[in-house]
Amino acid sequence: MKKKETLEFCKAVAYSSTANLGPGFDVFGLGLDFFYDTVSIHKLATKNGKIKIALDKNVNIPSSAKQNSASLSVMKIAQKFKIRNDLEIRITKGVPIGLGLGSSAASSAAAVVAFNELFECKLTDNEILDYAAEGEVSSAGVKHYDNVVASLFGGFVVVRTFPTLNFIKINTPKDLIVVVCVPKIITPSRKTKLARSVIPKEITIKDLTKNLANACVMVSGFFLQDTKLLANGINDIIVEPARKGLIPGYDNVKLNAYHSGALAVTISGAGPSMIAFTNSAKNASKIGRSMEQGFAESKVVSSAYVCRPSSPARVTSKY
Ligand code: HSE
Repeated sequence: MKKKETLEFCKAVAYSSTANLGPGFDVFGLGLDFFYDTVSIHKLATKNGKIKIALDKNVNIPSSAKQNSASLSVMKIAQKFKIRNDLEIRITKGVPIGLGLGSSAASSAAAVVAFNELFECKLTDNEILDYAAEGEVSSAGVKHYDNVVASLFGGFVVVRTFPTLNFIKINTPKDLIVVVCVPKIITPSRKTKLARSVIPKEITIKDLTKNLANACVMVSGFFLQDTKLLANGINDIIVEPARKGLIPGYDNVKLNAYHSGALAVTISGAGPSMIAFTNSAKNASKIGRSMEQGFAESKVVSSAYVCRPSSPARVTSKY
């Protein structure tokens, strides 16, 4: 498409995220500042309702508008507001793809923020959230809100869908550091859907109570700005045990991180990345190295990153 066809354009960024944080399956999201996606939306003069996706070379995400998370979200808003302009959506991926760091969510979040600004839709925060979650269908098969809510609003966010869609953002403790260890594994294109298929369909009240109590401990820890307390709520006895077999090196990564002084360790979202919490800036790199070593013991190459809670998605330029 020729550049001169662009009438207006808006660019936004959105950060990576880790979802679940142990017991908060589909409910807890934490934005992480190390990685981000940039999405620019070009409004073209022609009005055929077409969307073209432009990706950098060798970026392995769907380039068809009906399968790409960013365009799935944008299509829904365009439909609602009866916007027929052809669009070009340029996506620059910074978030590792398909590795449990909310890659599809970051693209959707940035796309919705950019589109809202470009067409002056004046969406409410809840509407922005709901449209961004449309993109999750591409990788998970369902709309789940925990990654998009964190990418959109930054930091730690609790989201619920029943009886209505709501989210609550809670300030994170200043000393909270998240070490993310990302294995270099090729995951299936709809990895989250697969990782959701291994979760038990039914659970006992006893297990529900244990997980619920831990989730409450975690929320209390965030609310009281107490990193040790929130880390103490990490244990999940429902989802994590079902998924750990999908992650080569899971046990070693966990053990090593704890031995190196991590306060908590769990799977990042649907995996295969793993996260560890610490309140010690001095110890964070050591924890990261121990996690890399854990993956290496299963012959998996990985890289660890020291992250802080992210800021919200934002528009970076417009004309
Ligand atoms: N809550 C979602 C899941 C997060 O665990 O399937 C996916 O990143």
